[in-house]
Amino acid sequence: MASTAEKKHQKLKELIRHHDHLYYVLDRPELTDFQYDQLLAELFALEAAHPELSLSDSPSQRVGGAALDVFKKVPHRMQMLSLANSYSPEDLFEFDARVKKFLGSENDVEYFCELKFDGLAIELIYEKGHLVQALTRGDGSVGEDVTHNIKTVKAIPLVLSTEKPPPLLEVRGEVLMYKHDFLKLNEAQQENGENVFANPRNAAAGTVRQLDPKIASQRPLRFFAYSLGAVQGVSFSSQEELETQLSEWSFPVALKWTQKSLGPQGVIDFYHAVEKSRQELPFDIDGIVVKINSFRLQEDLGLIARNPRWATAAKFQPEQAQTVIQDIEVQVGRTGALTPRAVMTPTKVGGVVVTYATLHNQEEIQRKDIRIGDTVVLQRAGDVIPEVVSVILEKRSKKSVPFKMPTHCPACDTEVFKAEEEVVTRCPNPFCKAVLKESLKHFASRRAMNIEKVGDRLIENFVDQGLVEKFSDLYRLNKDVLLSLERQGEKSVDNILESIEKSKNTTLPKFIFSLGIRYVGEQTAKFLADHYLSIQNLQNASDEDLIAIPEIGPKVAVSIREWFANKRLVAEITDLQKLGVKIESPRRSSGGKLSGLSFVITGTLPVKRDDAKDLIEKNGGKILSGVSSKLHYLVAGDDPGSKLIKLLLWASRLSVGMSCKSYFKIKTRGLPSLLIHNLIY
Ligand code: IVH
Repeated sequence: MASTAEKKHQKLKELIRHHDHLYYVLDRPELTDFQYDQLLAELFALEAAHPELSLSDSPSQRVGGAALDVFKKVPHRMQMLSLANSYSPEDLFEFDARVKKFLGSENDVEYFCELKFDGLAIELIYEKGHLVQALTRGDGSVGEDVTHNIKTVKAIPLVLSTEKPPPLLEVRGEVLMYKHDFLKLNEAQQENGENVFANPRNAAAGTVRQLDPKIASQRPLRFFAYSLGAVQGVSFSSQEELETQLSEWSFPVALKWTQKSLGPQGVIDFYHAVEKSRQELPFDIDGIVVKINSFRLQEDLGLIARNPRWATAAKFQPEQAQTVIQDIEVQVGRTGALTPRAVMTPTKVGGVVVTYATLHNQEEIQRKDIRIGDTVVLQRAGDVIPEVVSVILEKRSKKSVPFKMPTHCPACDTEVFKAEEEVVTRCPNPFCKAVLKESLKHFASRRAMNIEKVGDRLIENFVDQGLVEKFSDLYRLNKDVLLSLERQGEKSVDNILESIEKSKNTTLPKFIFSLGIRYVGEQTAKFLADHYLSIQNLQNASDEDLIAIPEIGPKVAVSIREWFANKRLVAEITDLQKLGVKIESPRRSSGGKLSGLSFVITGTLPVKRDDAKDLIEKNGGKILSGVSSKLHYLVAGDDPGSKLIKLLLWASRLSVGMSCKSYFKIKTRGLPSLLIHNLIY
């Protein structure tokens, strides 16, 4: 008989699985993020309280366990083959002719056409319906065990949705990253001074081959299933039947982007249709895959070398072109980062004329040995950002000039520096004109102060004319000054002034974000706003204060402190407020010292538990019933007994979460009563 906890556990797991499936597979979420997080929190709390529950197929396992030293090599039960390729759709007629010849038949063959995903092939091994191992393709015979990372991919079922799972099922498919997720990831990488990925495929491959699953769990990977490895206890008669069944078992399958076709003409039509609309897909593809639908015929056709005779890939022309680098110029960003970019002979790539390509940083340029005057291969990575793939060395002229990062800022001539642990070179002058322009653009942007009518061009103009030297100057602009600018008529000046006026009503998270403090993106700004409730509180926060916020790491804390240590910058805040900027606090209540913080109490406290609860709540803290990733503090009493151990076990599994960090902090501070005391008084 299953215990009540077991039943509840089962129900919760199924519910979460259902919502993961709706979100990641069917693209039809029914819950808000908050509601979903509540479910997860409930699951974690239940598992923490009942260590006897089996966790192997629990969504709680997706957060990533301990890091590995090396990947284990594991042989595939069945070789992972590769596909013969061609770049010309006409070759598909030849493929069809070869198939018919081999089968000795004149009849039209039924083909199943699919997308060729540009990701990385993975084999998922399910025993009795449970995911037990995930392997990379490796050399086709031996793969690498990447189970720890693959379990963090929410689109991949940890357990098959069926009452009667086959004893063994090996599902093969592609792990990839959606284009919009890739762009977001790169933005975050850049903001954190880390290396950016060249394209979604590299990002996906790098993530799957991460030794630390916690990093993998924070990167948004997806998956599509498309074939089988070894199986026991099931059989299928066609590719179409296989994919339909895989979909019923909860695997994401790209069925809506497939097409059946009798004979080769339909295949070629599919090729052209997909090529035309590939930009609209949420992920990158590099062609189509054509498979003979019938598994019986597939068997008859067998293999030729390491390629199946029953399938082929028709690739699209890569969105690459050759061009010449005419110059490498250096741009200075909002954080003072110097970013080299190539100025090229304008060239059409993937239907768009491209003149500039980012070269990221000096290291990247050295690695690819890119020189001014070089002929290079240009590509629109992830179908979006142009990048230089490689230099065509045979075409290098003797006059080509290696690039050297300038020693002084190209905008203000201050000496630049490169921190040892960083790849980025920076201009340290906070009043550098280029930094100022970029800071102002950020300040006025939609997600910051949202000064609608003050766009990038206008800001450049303001700075070049010496009208604006700091944020607050934007609020000192008047009609006469604006009218003196070229091409500004009465009407547009009125609009500008109106939008500046409108922007004066802002919220604390937006205001903090708009200051452009390094490492303080929108999310961090929100955390800070929720915690400090006013800009003055944030300004007065000490390093220790800041680090005590679970979401704030030491690097961010230092950056915030440095910003507020600069008197000229701080004076800006007062000036902005004097000029009428009103900053709405995130909470309407008066707040308290613990406001924005959440607590779980366990064990025997030196005070009555209810009194402790009251004390926390009176000071604005929230008491949670169970542990979740939202938890800030675990208040452990003198003898917390097994509950603490269970919570700790949970916390260590979720060490990406906040409670773990906080727990150790509590421990070093001594008794919980002391902790509460310290926080309040
Ligand atoms: S079927 C024997 N279907 O292409 C073929 N492969 O060169 C088994 N790929 O390593 C694979 N999309 O990474 C198949 N719809 C698709 C695919 C696909 C991409 C990749 C896969 C494989 C390579 C074969």
